[in-house]
Amino acid sequence: MDSNNSSCSPQTKYNLVQVKGTWIRQMEQHQVQEGKLSDAKIYETKLEHGVSWTVISPIVFTYRVLQCKNILDPRNDTLLWGHIGDEEPKGTLSNSKPVKRFVVIDATVHELYGSQVSQYFEAREVVHRILPLPTTEENKCMELVTKILEEVHAFGIDRRSEPIIAIGGGVCLDVVGLAASLYRRRTPYIRVPTTLLSYVDASVGAKTGVNFAGGKNKLGSYIPPVATFLDCSFFQTLPKRQISNGLAEMLKMALMKHRGLFQLLEADGRKLLHAKLQCATGNSIEKEDSASASIRIAIETMLEELAPNLWEDDLDRLVDFGHLISPELEMRVLPALLHGEAVNIDMSFMVYVAHQKGLLTAEEKDRIIQCMLGLDLPVWHQDCTLTLVQKSLKERLKHSAGSVRMPLPTGLGTAEIFHDMIEDNVLCQAFQKWTTELSSSGDK
Ligand SMILES: NC(=O)c1ccc[n+]([C@@H]2O[C@H](COP(=O)([O-])OP(=O)(O)OC[C@H]3O[C@@H](n4cnc5c(N)ncnc54)[C@H](O)[C@@H]3O)[C@@H](O)[C@H]2O)c1
Repeated sequence: MDSNNSSCSPQTKYNLVQVKGTWIRQMEQHQVQEGKLSDAKIYETKLEHGVSWTVISPIVFTYRVLQCKNILDPRNDTLLWGHIGDEEPKGTLSNSKPVKRFVVIDATVHELYGSQVSQYFEAREVVHRILPLPTTEENKCMELVTKILEEVHAFGIDRRSEPIIAIGGGVCLDVVGLAASLYRRRTPYIRVPTTLLSYVDASVGAKTGVNFAGGKNKLGSYIPPVATFLDCSFFQTLPKRQISNGLAEMLKMALMKHRGLFQLLEADGRKLLHAKLQCATGNSIEKEDSASASIRIAIETMLEELAPNLWEDDLDRLVDFGHLISPELEMRVLPALLHGEAVNIDMSFMVYVAHQKGLLTAEEKDRIIQCMLGLDLPVWHQDCTLTLVQKSLKERLKHSAGSVRMPLPTGLGTAEIFHDMIEDNVLCQAFQKWTTELSSSGDK
């Protein structure tokens, strides 16, 4: 028995080895049997009145984020098999029994693309059920999750090989993700985002959720999809306001960590908005247009921040910029503000806070606000009162292990996380200036 911990109780570390189908514990330095070694470990400690076992079992999630074109073209394999790596055989999965897929689709997206989705599965001879649902922010609650679970159960799927497919905006992807994470404790699911916001944000991480007890995304899980399929042609049917909404989350990544993306949005943002971020066809890496480049950078920067912290164990998150006051604001005025609009109002205020703290120059602050206005985003809102700001920051403090952890820009494309609560006078002065300078920009 080794005594490898600093406490007075001796602790024994066991590896787990599978020999002829049975897992057995083996002391680390006394490995006697050859077999499959697990990454899991068991630490055993003798106590005065018994024994304690501590299990450390690393869980690895692998998911693919795949950009593609014409996802609903029956000649395109992606929707059916894109979640499986190139090295894995697709045929063997489909040989023994008919392929089955359960699809949840946002009701509006169904009106626009439902017949193409049906034609896709019919042409591929897939046994399928398409469930259109009104996945709006007001409906984002457990009832939708239950409805999906009942329908999935009635349809019947093989939870190992028949992922549930979600096609829609962030609400649809979040709700389906939660249902999938609950069904038989975890059923694989696929995300097909159809809004810009869900394309660059909701679809590339692990979070699922629904609103609960008046709180935004109060119920949820950290279970990534097996795959996300990104096809920007869906944006063509989005109203411009929804494009602006998504541009807010892209701007967030630009402000936090990518000066180049900020410059792109500053120079071309308006053009991108009006062209609905449609990427030129025949694009090559060397001649990437601004739509493709801005989308690519937004996703890369988002993945960089999310992948090492999928479970949000580290509370210092740059991606939380714009998400300190906005959840409270968004829920309070629902449905007046879209998610990205509320995020932008929060970011706009925080830019004033950063300026007041001496982190941003007046010129940098003005350039950011002008960029926001160029993207047709609201920069101020009458319901975003000083009381709401203070309440949100206090809430934040309660849930962030005693330190507020506030990401703030320190330049155009650089940021830092501040752990101390903003001094009251800084907050009040920033709020005053923000209201004086921006209230006439109109609240959406
Ligand atoms: N899980 C995460 O990490 C994460 C990250 C960011 C946001 N979110 C969540 O995402 C939600 C916001 O997502 P959203 O902005 O996509 O909103 P949304 O899902 O409500 O979709 C917006 C609207 O666009 C319509 N729509 C969708 N695709 C369309 C298309 N191609 N053409 C025409 N209309 C279309 C929808 O019917 C809906 O009315 C929020 O609930 C937010 O909490 C989650």
